[in-house]
Amino acid sequence: MKNLSASEIRQQFIQFFESKGHQHLPSSPLIPYNDPTVLLTTAGMLQFKPIMFGTEKPVHSRVTTHQKCFRTTDLENVGFSPRHHTFFEMLGNFSFGDYYKAEVIPWAWEFLTEVLGLPQEKLHVTVYQTDDEAYDLWHEKVGIPAERMYRLGDDTNFWAAGETGPCGPCSEIYYDLGPSMDKGQTLHPGHDDDNRYLEVWNLVFMEFDRQPDGSLKPLPAKNIDTGMGLERITSVLQGKSSNYDTDLIQTIVSHIKPLAPAGAESHARYTVALQVIADHARSAVMLIGDGVQPGNEGRGYVLRRIIRRAVRFGQMIGMTDNFLYTLIPTILDLYTIYPELAQKQEIIHETILNEEERFSKTLSRGTKRLEDVLAELKSRGIKVVPGEAAFELYDTYGFPLELTLEIAQEQDFDVDKAGYKLAMQAQVERARSASRSNLDLGAGVVGFEPTAFLGYDATQSEVEVLAVLETNVEHLRRVVLKSTPFYAESGGQVSDHGALFAGAHRYEVVDVQKVGEVVVHVVQAEDWEALEKASTVNAMVEASMREETMKHHSVAHLLHQALKDVLGAQVAQAGSAVNHAQVRFDFNLNRPMTAEEILRVEERVNDQIMRNLPVHTSILPIEEARNSGAVAMFGEKYGEKVRVVSMGEYSSEFCGGTHVSATGTIGSFKIIAEEALAAGVRRVVGVAGRQAYIYSSQNEALLRTLSQDLKTPFENIPERVMKLQQTLKTQEKAIKALKSELALQQVGALAKQFKVHGDIHYLATQVDVPDMGALKQIAENLKGYKPQAVVVLGAEMDGKVGIVAAVSKNISTHIKAGELVKVLSPLVGAKGGGKPEFAQAGGGDQPAGLMELNARLEALLPAGTSA
Ligand code: SER
Repeated sequence: MKNLSASEIRQQFIQFFESKGHQHLPSSPLIPYNDPTVLLTTAGMLQFKPIMFGTEKPVHSRVTTHQKCFRTTDLENVGFSPRHHTFFEMLGNFSFGDYYKAEVIPWAWEFLTEVLGLPQEKLHVTVYQTDDEAYDLWHEKVGIPAERMYRLGDDTNFWAAGETGPCGPCSEIYYDLGPSMDKGQTLHPGHDDDNRYLEVWNLVFMEFDRQPDGSLKPLPAKNIDTGMGLERITSVLQGKSSNYDTDLIQTIVSHIKPLAPAGAESHARYTVALQVIADHARSAVMLIGDGVQPGNEGRGYVLRRIIRRAVRFGQMIGMTDNFLYTLIPTILDLYTIYPELAQKQEIIHETILNEEERFSKTLSRGTKRLEDVLAELKSRGIKVVPGEAAFELYDTYGFPLELTLEIAQEQDFDVDKAGYKLAMQAQVERARSASRSNLDLGAGVVGFEPTAFLGYDATQSEVEVLAVLETNVEHLRRVVLKSTPFYAESGGQVSDHGALFAGAHRYEVVDVQKVGEVVVHVVQAEDWEALEKASTVNAMVEASMREETMKHHSVAHLLHQALKDVLGAQVAQAGSAVNHAQVRFDFNLNRPMTAEEILRVEERVNDQIMRNLPVHTSILPIEEARNSGAVAMFGEKYGEKVRVVSMGEYSSEFCGGTHVSATGTIGSFKIIAEEALAAGVRRVVGVAGRQAYIYSSQNEALLRTLSQDLKTPFENIPERVMKLQQTLKTQEKAIKALKSELALQQVGALAKQFKVHGDIHYLATQVDVPDMGALKQIAENLKGYKPQAVVVLGAEMDGKVGIVAAVSKNISTHIKAGELVKVLSPLVGAKGGGKPEFAQAGGGDQPAGLMELNARLEALLPAGTSA
């Protein structure tokens, strides 16, 4: 057996199948392209489904890949079990109507035994119970003795990508890890409880397309789909009993170890924690590299969940600083075969660090909340955490149930799991009924020819109805047409709106989506009779909306190029959304654009509009399109032929969207916002066409009103406003000075109000002053009127209450201004203090307290000073 590194195994596999006439194709991204039936790419064959259905022609009939895969089933097991991962790589070879069982079986044997050098006697094989052909090939042609062969049933030896779609019988190859793994009873390969036999390779004979009713319809051709987990085969070759001990993952683990504090090794979960962190760090990098961002649903939630789980396990063994992001460079070094990762390093770094920081905070808040819940339950003698509380911890603090359970159990509490599930279900129901997007668009949409799109040239057409399908929502059905002028949402462009007419009956089209290559029109109506009877309908797109959408789509291309011109060629589109009202364009930049850059971009776009550049579309072979320099979106899957949209010499992009025929039609373009979207990603929002006109004329109306009010032409408005501001400032100053002067004039009258307490003259009252400065000045002035004076003044200024106290020096040893203010300021809600001779307090909000100053001061004067 050869001791190879994971990357050597990957390379050997590809080379082996290249030597058998296979074309090596790149891994598709983890976000499946145009396949609503799966959240993430779970197997190597997914990108080839259209070929197996026969809706896409294969360019090569023999293909080999190493595919990035992601599985979320059993997430809770990842890190605990030696074989589970979220992200993993699948080595595969595929035949599309080319070779079949007679070739693939001997090749698999040759690769395992000759290239990798696995001992023949350790390999066991399963076949589908009735598959004599595969059995004979293994037994007779390859020579595997009957005692190492097993005929098994649907559970293990019939593989399907989903409930419907391509599937077929399969043959699995197992590696015998030896009797020490038997755990007391000898089982056989494919048995659930077996540890001894490790499945290393699955050869699927894809012949069927499972229909929604469960029946099996033959696929147009017989295909081969094989899958071998890279991590697993590496563990076999490296003689490790766990995938986590292979070079691939140990490299990451060895980076984590020094980050844990001294003594962490003695934690019962130390090894599990290292494995969870290594697995999740790797898969987070892969997801973000393929464009996923943390969120609360779908893929975003998967990403969030794994980052959080990793942080939690880190904290469990005492890692308090952010650590996950420091693993990124190690992971990127391991995966230079996926160059898209290095290009996204900055976004990956920012995203992980951001999420890690946010969760560290909620983690401690959630722990506190849980401690409170437990304390309250304890005081009431209850030993079970209610499901609602566990759900709140999950929903608000991101605490997975498992974490709540763990902490609760440490304190001898149980958690009502059934109640938790109910609370969760209730929330899912609420979300489902609130959202139309939960329509299962794909159900039953199988076997249709790809829908022909007429909408590049027309917005109306009489077309054939192929099916009217139910949905799980009242008043909504899905209509499949043979061809359609309706644009289905894709490439950032919204779907068209409009209606289908069956005779005089109008059926509102509320959404249009693609399921594979089939366009599904979501239609709303009360009465379906006319549509059900119609063999054709008149499909009419809301043309004025479509026109405005086209302007925004075309302007998005100009904007993309203008951003590159102004900010640098490294600017790449991170996403876009185009509809009739605006264009939203997201791109990578780790700082805000300056006002000047925004203006320059806007100006460039408008220049291209005014040049009225012709817009051309052409369908080119992908290589030719790439060589022409046309901009492709990273992560999109393109076929052999691509549509390229060019605008004069200025812009050229891969695009399937609808566009104006010359840029002049766009009219004009205005940028209305530039903002941060995520770490390292900016968003520009702009308007074109009619919306740009509306935006400009609204601004102009605003200016006109200002110009009338200020009685000055447009161009003088700024100067006028500046002058007004200056005048206002000067006047405010003058008013203050006048008020202070007025206040000082009160001093004479106030001095007459002094009262006598023994040798002391005291005065406490409310005055009218503009600010604290004036208040102080009056108090100091009044103090000078008597040899032993105590003066307390209060005032309301700009809605806030302040007080001051002034005391003559010779008595300030026993009557201290600072003390007076401390006691009196709460009366008016103010805060402050000061020295024995002078003190002040401000910011009060209880003017009513001013009336009580006098009485309170009298009570404070020391009895000993009385005559
Ligand atoms: N599709 C099969 C699997 O995922 C073989 O590639 O196991």
